[in-house]
Amino acid sequence: MSAQAMKIEAARVALGEVRAGMKLGLGTGSTSVEFVKLLAASPHAREVRCTCTSESTESLARSLGLTLVPLNELAPLDLAVDGADEIDPQLRLIKGRGGALLREKIVEQQAERFIVIADDSKLVDQLGRGPLPVEVTPFALEVLMKRFAKMRLHPELRMAGDSVRITDEGHRIIDVRVPWGNDIATIVEKIRECAGVVETGFFPTEATEAIIAGDNGIERLRR
Ligand code: A5P
Repeated sequence: MSAQAMKIEAARVALGEVRAGMKLGLGTGSTSVEFVKLLAASPHAREVRCTCTSESTESLARSLGLTLVPLNELAPLDLAVDGADEIDPQLRLIKGRGGALLREKIVEQQAERFIVIADDSKLVDQLGRGPLPVEVTPFALEVLMKRFAKMRLHPELRMAGDSVRITDEGHRIIDVRVPWGNDIATIVEKIRECAGVVETGFFPTEATEAIIAGDNGIERLRR
C-alpha cells in the first residue's frame, strides 16, 4: 500500500468514531486533509460542528461545506483528529513539521479524545528521529537561534521557499535536534525556560489513541 493509501485508510477508520452532534477539532497536514475530505463527503457532514487547527484546514473545511465554529464557542470538544510526525510507544508525539503546532496543541488540549491518524512510517522507538519544531516570538528569534546553538540543538530557521515561515499566530519556527540518547522531555523543559519560546511540537499527553495504517492493516494504540 502506498503512504497516501495508508493515510486515507487511517482517516477512514477515524471517521468511524464520529457521531451525530459531535463537536470536532480538525487537524492539519496531509493525513488530516484526507480526514476532512472524508468527513465532508459522509452523512455526518451536516450533523457535526468543527473548529480548525490552521487557516489552511479552515479554508479546506469551509470550501467543502462543513460547519465551522470558533474554538471559544465550541470548546470543550468531543473529538480531535490530527496527524503526527513521530509517535512513540507511550503515545507521545512530535508535531508541527507542517507549522501548525501551536493551534494544534491548543485545540487538542480542549478535546476529550484526540485520535492521531498516521501511516506506520511515523512510529518510532524514540522521539527525535527528525527535528523538533519550536514556535518563537519574532522579537526573540535571533537570540534564541544563538542560545539553541549553544545548547547544541542545531537550530534551523523554518523557511517557506525564500521567505521566513510565519505561523498563523504570527510567530516563527526554529527546528532543533534532540541530541540522540537524550530524553526529549528534559530537553523540552530546558527549551521552555527560554523567554520567547511560545510552544514546542512535543505533545507528551495530548493523544488518547492512535490509528496507524500499514501494509498489514490497522493498528490501534490507546493510552
Ligand atoms: C502540522 O503542523 C503537523 O503537526 C502535522 O499534523 C504533522 O506534520 C503530520 O503531517 P502529515 O499528515 O502531512 O504527515
